[in-house]
Amino acid sequence: MKKAEIILEDKTYEMPVIVGTMNEKAFDISTLRKDSGYITLDQGYQNTGSCISKITYIDGEKGILRYRGIPIEELAIKSSFSETAYLLIYGKLPTAEELHTFSVKLTENAMLHEDMLNFLRSYPIHSHPMAILSSMVNTLSIFYPEEFSMDSDEGSVAFDLTAARLLSKIRTIAAFSYKKSIGEPFIYPEPDLKYAANFLNMMFNSPTKKYNLDPDIVKTLNKMLIIHGDHEQNCSTSTVRLVGSSKVNLYSSICAGICALWGPLHGGANQGVIEMLEDIIKNHKNIKGFIEKVKDKKSRTLLMGFGHRVYKTYDPRAKILKEDCMNILNKFHIKDPLLDLALELEEIALKDDYFLSRNLYPNVDFYSGILYRALGIPTNMFTVMFAIGRLPGWIAHWKEMHDTVPFRIGRPRQIYMGEPLLHYTPMNNRK
Ligand code: CMC
Repeated sequence: MKKAEIILEDKTYEMPVIVGTMNEKAFDISTLRKDSGYITLDQGYQNTGSCISKITYIDGEKGILRYRGIPIEELAIKSSFSETAYLLIYGKLPTAEELHTFSVKLTENAMLHEDMLNFLRSYPIHSHPMAILSSMVNTLSIFYPEEFSMDSDEGSVAFDLTAARLLSKIRTIAAFSYKKSIGEPFIYPEPDLKYAANFLNMMFNSPTKKYNLDPDIVKTLNKMLIIHGDHEQNCSTSTVRLVGSSKVNLYSSICAGICALWGPLHGGANQGVIEMLEDIIKNHKNIKGFIEKVKDKKSRTLLMGFGHRVYKTYDPRAKILKEDCMNILNKFHIKDPLLDLALELEEIALKDDYFLSRNLYPNVDFYSGILYRALGIPTNMFTVMFAIGRLPGWIAHWKEMHDTVPFRIGRPRQIYMGEPLLHYTPMNNRK
């Protein structure tokens, strides 16, 4: 077995090397502090592995993304969101019977407790849908307060039910919050509709205008949810693991993940891209001028939807979405000036040394917003769509962590740089 050696104050410490199934390498520093008194410092966790996982594999240099070993490109075309959710959470593709049981559970749990609607109705009309989503998901822990431990048979049955409730109710919460924002009555879930179709129906059907479910739109939404399904240790997923490691319930752990996702550097970037494109059309005479502003660090302007902590090449999810964007806009004869602008921005950026030298390519958020617009989804709901898609991944990581022995609460260390020791100063002696 290979070992890494660290020499500190003339003493050598040996640490086991761990090699993943795809040859990713790490050395295990678990005993470093106990043995040497040192910790490692890695702000932003750029080099720190927080767990061993079997869920998702990413190769950021080659642009590879696989769920449980299956390439995202295959799942996007061949699978459904429910099937992919099962794959992520339970570790294998379901048999026909398993998928049927899972789908029935989703259908049975689609409704919201009518008392929960009192909360939903009382939020201010202009509340951001992500704020409503996180609050309502945490509210589920009030309506379903039963606790369970994963290390018993009853625990795993309770987990299955909790996971199904979350997966199914999240789309109802999302659609209802949209209906509330436009002042229309809620459209209840339809037991005969599948996951993506049911969501579209709840969003866009109304008592006075029938919404026709187009198979291509349903297929595209399925695909969009699938490609957001998991992305290993990003800000929100690691948040779900960290919060969940306190053994708080699954609803509250997911609520924390939704809050982490909301930020513009993470899932909120899909909304940020559209706002950026609209700003360019309104306030910038030409695209090159905007690119120059991005390159000027003092302007603190980012090219939203570009760059990624892991991908140093084209994000495979962005490739799928770009193609779908073209297809859907063509099929429905939609002329969206934002798509033309996005294509032009991409072309200019990918010829510019600033972006090339830093390996900055379009990420999943660059084209997703334009596609959501084509499906009729409003800009402030984009990150909610990301959250619905990412939910199976969050649940899978929560489960994997709870199934891991030994189980440990997440508790990083720090290097203290504050005052060594001060004494309390009475008020009249303070400056
Ligand atoms: N526009 C302009 N410059 C950028 C951008 C960008 N979008 N992204 C990175 N850079 C620059 C950055 O300023 C730095 O330059 P320098 O070396 O001169 O200091 C260099 O590229 C390396 O970037 P970094 O900030 O060290 O990279 P990171 O891994 O810490 O950040 C990121 C990754 C995604 C937060 C960042 O690329 C970013 O802010 N992108 C825009 C927001 C965005 O699209 N986020 C969605 C990410 S994908 C969906 C998800 O999973 O969340």
